Order: sequence, then structure tokens, then C-alpha cells
Amino acid sequence: MPNSVTITDNRTGQSVEIPIINDGVAVDEWKKLLPGIWFYDPGLMTTAICESSITYIDGDKGILRYRGYPIEKLAEQSTYLEVAYLLLKGELPTSQEYDVWVKDVTRHTFIHENVRKRFLDGFHYDAHPMGMLVSAVAALSTFYSDAKDIFNSESRWKQITRLIAKMPTLAAAAHRFSVGMPYVYPDNSLSFTANFLSMMWKTAEPRFDANPALARALDILFILHADHEQNCSTTAMRTVGSAHADPYSACSAACAALYGPRHGGANEAVIRMLQDIHTMDNVEDFIKSVKDGHGRLQGFGHRIYKSYDPRARIIKQTAEEVFEITGKNPLLDIALKLEEVALSDPYFLDRHLYPNVDFYSGIIYQAMGFPLEIFPVLFALARTSGWLAHWIELLDQDSKIIRPRQLYTGKDIREYIPIDQR
Ligand code: CMC
Repeated sequence: MPNSVTITDNRTGQSVEIPIINDGVAVDEWKKLLPGIWFYDPGLMTTAICESSITYIDGDKGILRYRGYPIEKLAEQSTYLEVAYLLLKGELPTSQEYDVWVKDVTRHTFIHENVRKRFLDGFHYDAHPMGMLVSAVAALSTFYSDAKDIFNSESRWKQITRLIAKMPTLAAAAHRFSVGMPYVYPDNSLSFTANFLSMMWKTAEPRFDANPALARALDILFILHADHEQNCSTTAMRTVGSAHADPYSACSAACAALYGPRHGGANEAVIRMLQDIHTMDNVEDFIKSVKDGHGRLQGFGHRIYKSYDPRARIIKQTAEEVFEITGKNPLLDIALKLEEVALSDPYFLDRHLYPNVDFYSGIIYQAMGFPLEIFPVLFALARTSGWLAHWIELLDQDSKIIRPRQLYTGKDIREYIPIDQR
């Protein structure tokens, strides 16, 4: 049986056979047969916008792999910086390469004093830290004029190192501003995650030593969030990157996409939902209201995963380890009951709605002391490595500028009527 599809234009009787390659059909042959006829695909539900060798997902089987490595193995045995290297370079580093990479990232953790003192201090006192991050990442492009040199591999790698290194510093600075605490400079004697926790929580002590188990749990969460192929924010990164904008501007666009409650803002929305539900007794009523169309069960459902989200399974396990140290988050019982009720209800089963990565991540973050507003910032910090991996891939593929078509449904040509006659 040929591995192809045949399309016939019934208006002319002409046909074209298009081979199926990597589960997809290229548009070139279609375009030859049907010029000017566009695929109508809102939400790009059935459109592959690129070829990619970074992340593999099988949504039906609940499989997630970075560069061929199962997420479960990476979460168990790797570190966030090692995974970032893997995503960016395509291979796990040797121990020597890893040491150089960690040293390079550590060397770039500081941000320019003007970003901190003038730019971040200029925000309104109650600015959302994610809004601050979106702007601060874009502002970085004005500090590194060499960032525009995107086809110079040395410069490209420098910007990547800077972005990975400075995201925790910006994230922590946004938090410190929002709670009126003085900024904490990076401590380059600490690991990537321990340094982030130090910048978040250090007060008067000369050195902040995070609980190693909590630092490790956060590192695992960062690994789980590092990439997820063509999601909304990565597509924003690719779209802006395809115009050959510098990586800071493209990353800022990706952060902005991630800010939305349908995407990276969902972990914040989950906690607000659990707080609203308030007690276990209200769970059944809440599920009923969702089924009646009053809002969504936050942290449930996924465009790709239709059996379960493998990240949610790992997070649930990490949550138990965190709660042994922090004490149980009282919202956990409501979340567990919610999951139990939803997963025995045909509404959710028929629609293949299961807990996603955000259902439990917020509960862990909250138990670790992170305020709700910082949750999407944590997601952005971790996803930066994935965004940049896609950015490199896009530039190396020398891809076209992303410029989709539309089906115009507006008015036909009309007579312009001067304002005084309307
Ligand atoms: N609660 C209740 N019903 C839902 C939910 C939900 N969370 N998600 C989907 N549905 C229903 C939806 O109403 C629709 O029902 P019907 O066929 O009767 O109209 C059906 O399921 C299909 O939904 P959809 O909106 O067409 O699915 P989608 O693939 O476009 O949306 C989603 C995916 C993640 C945006 C959506 O499931 C959602 O809004 N979930 C809640 C927000 C959330 O947790 N987002 C985090 C996603 S994971 C992190 C990330 O990668 O960003």
C-alpha cells in the first residue's frame, strides 16, 4: 500500500499524489494543484509549522522525550543545566563540557545595574512579576547590541548563555520588587537552583543555604518545564525569531505568550480555583458547575496529551517529597479529591481530560513559599532553554518568515462616506 495521499480537484478532475513523510504531507504539491486554496486551521490544530529534532511527544501514550531521552530518566538523574545543554546542543555534555557550561552560565548571572535600579525600580508598586519579566527580558536586548548578530555563532552562544544565566536573576528581582525587599546579588558559589533560591529568600544572613532537597525538587520542576515542542510560547518564539529579531526580543514574546492563563498562567489559576473551592465538601458542586459550562477545571486537559501528562505523574511524586520537608499544603486534599471526582466522571473521561503539569506544580510552589504571582515566572525561567533550542534550530534551518494566510470574511469594496454625511 503506498504511503501517500491523493487529492483530486473535482472542478478540473486533476489529481496529485503526495507522499506521507514523518506522519505529515508537505504543502508544495498541494500548492501546485490548488494555488490560492488555503487550509482553514484555526489554532493550528493540524498544521506542523516546522521539522524539529528537539522534543518528542506521543500524546496518546503519554510519552515525552528530550532529544530521545525519556523525561522520567532526566527528572530522576539529570540537572536542569545538563538538560538545558542537551536541548541546546543535541547531546548530553561530557563531564568536562558540563563543567565549562556551568562555569559560563555562572559567570553571566549578574544583570546590569541599570536594569535593576532604573528599569525594574520604575514599575508601579503592585506590578505583576510576569509583566515585569516580559519587559525586562526585552530590555536586555538594548544592553547587548551584539545580540543582533544572530548568524555569528559565537555571539549567538553568548546571548544564549546570558539568557539562561540571567533569567533567575530577573525572576528573583521581580519578586523582591513586588514585596518591597532589597535585591539580592547572585551568589556564584551556589548551584543554579540554590542561587535562585538565595536571590529569592535571602534576608540578613551572610549566605543563604537552601534546603538541598527543596533545591533538587525545584531543579526537577525546571527539567519538566524545559521544553514541550510547539506550544503557544515556543511558537511565539519561532514566529518572532523567523523575522530575525534578536533572541531577547523573541524570548520576551515567548514570555508574553506564557503569561496567559491557558498556558503558563494555569498553575496560578489552579491555586486560585482550589482556594475558591475552599473545602472538600464543595468539590462535587464545583465539578457540576464546570460541566454546566461555568468555567474550566484549571490544570486539566491538554491539546496533545489525551491519556495522561507524564510530567503530572512525576510532579505528584515530587510533591510528596517536598511536603515531607515543608508540611502538606492544605490545598492538596482538595486537589486529590477533585482529581478523583473528575477522573470518575464521563464528562472528563469522554473528553480525555486528565491533570496536566500545572495541576500539582502550583501546590508544590506554594508549599515552598513562592507567591502565586511568581508561578508563571518560574515556568518562563525553565522554558527559556527550550525556547532557545527552538530558536537555534529555526535559524539553522534557514526557515522562511512565519506568515500564515487568512480566509477573508469581511465586507466587499465599499464607498467611503465623509464623516459629516454618516
Ligand atoms: N475543564 C473543563 N472542560 C474542558 C477543559 C477543562 N480544563 N479543557 C477542555 N475542556 C472541554 C471543552 O469545554 C471542550 O468540550 P466540548 O467538546 O463539549 O466543547 C473539550 O473539552 C475540548 O476542549 P478544547 O478547548 O477544544 O481543547 P483544547 O485542546 O483547545 O484546549 C487547553 C486545551 C489546555 C487550553 C484546555 O484543556 C484548558 O483550557 N485547560 C485548562 C487550562 C490549563 O490547565 N492549561 C494548562 C495547559 S498545560 C501547560 C502548558 O503546556 O501550557
